[in-house]
Amino acid sequence: MDQKTPGKLDQAEPQAGSILAYKDFIESAKRPLLKPAVWKFDRSLEALHASDRDFKRRIIALAHPDLAEESSAAQDLAIVMQLMKPGERSQLHRHSPWALHFALAGQGYTTIEGVRYDWSVGDIVFTPAWAYHEHVNTSDTEDAILYSLQNMPMLAHLNSLFREEPAGEPMKHVLRHRPGDPGSYTPPPREAEEQGKSSWRA
Ligand SMILES: [Fe+2]
Repeated sequence: MDQKTPGKLDQAEPQAGSILAYKDFIESAKRPLLKPAVWKFDRSLEALHASDRDFKRRIIALAHPDLAEESSAAQDLAIVMQLMKPGERSQLHRHSPWALHFALAGQGYTTIEGVRYDWSVGDIVFTPAWAYHEHVNTSDTEDAILYSLQNMPMLAHLNSLFREEPAGEPMKHVLRHRPGDPGSYTPPPREAEEQGKSSWRA
């Protein structure tokens, strides 16, 4: 078969890839070291209390000054702080990054895949990647603060950031869409006789 006319496939011209000399390849891999950075707790707390309530929670991210565009604390780590007022609960959701939640103030619990994990100050809860979870402040009088580390930046670099929030909504592939970018193509329905022949699912 003529490789230049592959059946019914689109004949769009692919973008030409770059070819580099080896020394340029090595040079292009070099990055400067991140500078030291400090996030003062009183400033973070002030910003947290002043933040808007998005996704039913008040959340801020702590970004390294050298990584402000990607809102990361380090190249492969994000830090978010979230405040829950007495009795508040986040909505059930899931995402492709894992998260380590440190309880900084208050008390409450996190449900992970339907199981309740209680926490109070000093406790740490790990939510695995793509596990449904929800946070609840059980106090009638005290605020609760969770300080969370996530591997979100690494997944964003790999175009592998997915969210479902709230649970039951269609899954979103989190991308910065530009006109003409891939990602909006919808394949035609498979022929009925081909359906169910194979699957990658275990
Ligand atoms: Fe989450």
